[in-house]
Amino acid sequence: MKKYSRRKILQFLGRAGAASMLMSSGTLLASCKTTKTKEVEAEVAELIEQPVEAVDDFISIFKGINPIEIDEVVMAEGLNYNIIVKWDDPINDEDTFGYNNDYLAFIPLDPENKDDGLLWVNHEYMSPMFVSGYTGGEEEERTKEQVIKEQYSVGGSIIRVKRGDDGKWKMVKGDRYNRRLNGLTKIPFAWHESIAGADYAVGTFANCSGGVTPWGTILTAEENYHAFYGETDYSDPEWKKKVEGSARLGWDQFFDHPPEHYGWIVEVDVVTGTARKLVALGRCAHECATIHVAKDGRLVVYTGDDANDQCLYKFISAVPGSLEIGKLYVANIEKGEWVSLDYVEQPVLRDKFSGQTEILIRLREAAALVGGTPLARPEDIDIDPISKDVFVSLTNNVPKGDFYGSILKIVEDNEDKTSLTFKSETFLAGGEETGFACPDNMAFDLKGNLWFTSDISGSKMNQDPYLAFKNNGLFVVPTTGAQAGKVIQVMSAPTDAEFTGPFFSPDGKTLFLSVQHPGERSMSLTELSSNWPDGGDSLPRSSVIAVEGKLIEALNGVV
Ligand code: FEO
Ligand code: CA
Ligand code: CA
Repeated sequence: MKKYSRRKILQFLGRAGAASMLMSSGTLLASCKTTKTKEVEAEVAELIEQPVEAVDDFISIFKGINPIEIDEVVMAEGLNYNIIVKWDDPINDEDTFGYNNDYLAFIPLDPENKDDGLLWVNHEYMSPMFVSGYTGGEEEERTKEQVIKEQYSVGGSIIRVKRGDDGKWKMVKGDRYNRRLNGLTKIPFAWHESIAGADYAVGTFANCSGGVTPWGTILTAEENYHAFYGETDYSDPEWKKKVEGSARLGWDQFFDHPPEHYGWIVEVDVVTGTARKLVALGRCAHECATIHVAKDGRLVVYTGDDANDQCLYKFISAVPGSLEIGKLYVANIEKGEWVSLDYVEQPVLRDKFSGQTEILIRLREAAALVGGTPLARPEDIDIDPISKDVFVSLTNNVPKGDFYGSILKIVEDNEDKTSLTFKSETFLAGGEETGFACPDNMAFDLKGNLWFTSDISGSKMNQDPYLAFKNNGLFVVPTTGAQAGKVIQVMSAPTDAEFTGPFFSPDGKTLFLSVQHPGERSMSLTELSSNWPDGGDSLPRSSVIAVEGKLIEALNGVV
């Protein structure tokens, strides 16, 4: 068992000054000229009464926060944050940072310099009231100009970020790498056939979570695409009708882009800004894309379809390094099998669809036909860097009575991600006993501690049956120390917001994090439910923050 000094315990509690006194005087509490509470002092005193061996980690004594309902970013002791960029900030002379930032990834430009790199940020969707001024009033006329503003506000941003002389991460405004991809950007399909009559799509949007490839590009997942141009009603043989009410945001009033052009995983080269839509990974409400390189060099990509009773998918490339040539599978959890969605291998798919392209476009229908297991909204997927197991957050399935969700663990057979059989079990179940509900994005740190965010919907937050959880939060499950396996809340989000896109810097000292949709339930521009982050009467603005501090360093083992 690792030994820890009292100095380390004090450092962990942010008491470096007191620790110095301890080292010089040899006495502890008598020397403490600290403002910490008596309660914390008592806890430290109790700990140091134990043999040093009993305190097997810094991590044993860190304190989380209780759920809280205030319009602030609230953090556990040992954490601090600074804002890197907010919605509508200029990133260069032409472009501004988009709305509702979600997934983000830090890609160093020079592997030797961990304090400088490019940040990719997803912009999932937008609130027309804030972006274009459209409020949906009965007498209100919707204009094309409003829709163009909305198209611009989603997609993604690429910004250069550097650690400044003060040690804080900052955006390098006007940097030559800074650019936007948005709902107006032409993006080709990486496929040998056209998709709904075209070899490119206009725009990417609904960009929820994502992943990073081994070669440093990013994968951004188009999730609830139907809200923008609607979804095709495939009972119409001509594919001309749309599912009624599917285009909630009504962009199809002014643009007739086919729904089939959206709902893909998109690969973006953050250095050049070029992008392509990866048809081979299928089309659904993709939450994320998590990539793994198998021992033989083939790629395995996991992705979930975030809707009630939808499925978990796995793409296995036929050749090393390809995101175009390979087979897609859907999980049958009961049987522990990955079931092929290949036109040649599945007679039931041949009876229904005209070919592989149609299977990929109508993925949900194909998955149901071959026995894919309906799940409780599979959201983020991450691979434990230590055990290599695959973790899937299942956020909830309210119609089925699953209000709090869970995290599923998948162990591929033979320790091989190309395996077509697996075992699975519930790793953590949400609920008042475990202290969290509706798990969404996850990230493992350098030591394999699991961090995850919650996404209780704005319309349900602070209401029954979610009252106990208060605002959405960030949680960590330590893998070592006396608190190993416990779910500990370490941050609380502002009113109506969720934290999204947790991503650790390569040195393990920073957690880049999105604060998404504060004030989403504002009734009007003068009846705001949040004024985060600028306070006063200001508009709420989704932002990217850099979270740092002793707690992150301790958990990452970089103290
Ligand atoms: Fe965009 Fe499934 O969260
Ligand atoms: Ca999400
Ligand atoms: Ca979510």
